[in-house]
Amino acid sequence: MTIRTIATEPFDDQKPGTSGLRKKVKVFQRPHYLENFVQSIFNALEGFGGKTLVVGGDGRYLNREAVQTILKMAAAAGFGRALVGQGGILSTPAASCVIRKHQAFGGIILSASHNPGGPDEDFGIKYNAANGGPAPEKLTEAMFAISRSLKEYRILEADDVDIDSLGGGMLGGMRVEIIDPVDDYAALMETLFDFGRIRDALTSGALSVRFDAMHAVTGPYAREILENRLGAPAGTVMNGTPLPDFGGGHPDPNLVHAHDLVEIMRGPNAPTFGGASDGDGDRNMVMGRDFFVTPSDSLAVLAANATLTPGYADGLAGIARSMPTSGAADRVAAALGIDCYETPTGWKFFGNLLDAGRATLCGEESFGTGSAHVREKDGLWAVLMWMNILAVRQETVADIVTEHWRKYGRNYYSRHDYEAVDADAANGLMDHLRELAPGLAGRVFGDYTIETVDDFSYTDPVDGSVATKQGIRVLFTDGSRVVFRLSGTGTQGATLRVYLERYEQDPAAQGQETQAALGQLIAIAGDLAEIKARTGRDAPDVIT
Ligand code: G1P
Ligand code: ZN
Repeated sequence: MTIRTIATEPFDDQKPGTSGLRKKVKVFQRPHYLENFVQSIFNALEGFGGKTLVVGGDGRYLNREAVQTILKMAAAAGFGRALVGQGGILSTPAASCVIRKHQAFGGIILSASHNPGGPDEDFGIKYNAANGGPAPEKLTEAMFAISRSLKEYRILEADDVDIDSLGGGMLGGMRVEIIDPVDDYAALMETLFDFGRIRDALTSGALSVRFDAMHAVTGPYAREILENRLGAPAGTVMNGTPLPDFGGGHPDPNLVHAHDLVEIMRGPNAPTFGGASDGDGDRNMVMGRDFFVTPSDSLAVLAANATLTPGYADGLAGIARSMPTSGAADRVAAALGIDCYETPTGWKFFGNLLDAGRATLCGEESFGTGSAHVREKDGLWAVLMWMNILAVRQETVADIVTEHWRKYGRNYYSRHDYEAVDADAANGLMDHLRELAPGLAGRVFGDYTIETVDDFSYTDPVDGSVATKQGIRVLFTDGSRVVFRLSGTGTQGATLRVYLERYEQDPAAQGQETQAALGQLIAIAGDLAEIKARTGRDAPDVIT
């Protein structure tokens, strides 16, 4: 078999965002586009000769073709072995698990997460390092720099690999092993949670569950774990077959997009617990009967109850949350006497804290929760941890959460997204806030007084690296806050995210509707940032 060196022209837009390179499928279908980026990844790495690369994706449109290209390029680059999920499938947390368990050099994951899939929708590619976590910024910057001057790439001339049959074979000088995408992951979950106890609760009826896989990658994982291993009735997993276009839906587990599950959980005879996961299986939404748990509260409740589960019975080393995530987990950390870290948005910032053993649980407001068991957030893991806690406590989700608020206080919290806004207008809005910032301290708006305004920056306590301009924070004297940032994952124009938070300690005032409770802050955010005038939008596109 021959290795071909193909002459190419660099693209100038291959800058990885919050989570890898995401573009429309049509962009990835341009001649050499995918190949250029894959070569840029390989050129940015050192010392992988003869080592193992894990390859898999969320099954979206272009997944299978991309796997073939990556395998032929990995063989040409000199990898010794590739582990590929059968059918080209690996959820993001499962890929992280496989990289770690098999001591791979790294892995390439094909996904645009919760973004829609299909010929006119999104595709994505990201590299994860040997710890199983997203490539650190230094590495993604190196990839981008290389992509801007790339002149050629190398690819093995070979027939496509049969990725649907388990087993192994050679591709040039590289061994390719097609593995069951679920096995390693399911085995890891059995070490963390009390499967016997969950099974008993499911059998006795104390716990009943529905899981919405949203036609995305977690279907096979959830069926194997919930239905086969834990004995939940067949049909517990809905929308369980991964489809290249996710059934035309938006595979984002929130109240808007996971509507099938929401309807069931709010309907008659609802199960006691509902969960959903996103395109690539790293996000989660959890609900009780007619009760939505915000991701920020979910992190706090999991932390407060972690010792009820075998994997965390010895307690937590620390908790980490992204800056825009509510401070609910901080209060649990304080009560437990453990450290709480505030990082920029994106899972990659948790990697060092997890590797160094400083944090055990991590979470983001964007429906991401996870722990040191892998180096990605993990949707099904969060669902299983909740199920384990429910099986032990035998109380409703609503009772557990409201009791949590009584004890720690409630952080009313919401995120407002303005999507596909004109990029110049969005950048102008952020610049305007930066200009206003120095003069805002002490200004009074209704019940609220501004204490400080800053642009969040973070110094990694492990390696000292600094990330700047991570979101403008308007902090009020009562601990409330509004945060503005632009999304790093959108593929069209700019997405403005406005994060709103207010703390309420008084149990008698903890039962308000969230948007009403945040009403004044919402108005202040709109005024300060001139959202309507600058974006032309009357209201956010998505409220979570
Ligand atoms: C979004 C979320 C962020 C998450 C990322 C990847 O990024 O806000 O928390 O880590 O997706 O799932 P953003 O679009 O805000 O840059
Ligand atoms: Zn995702």
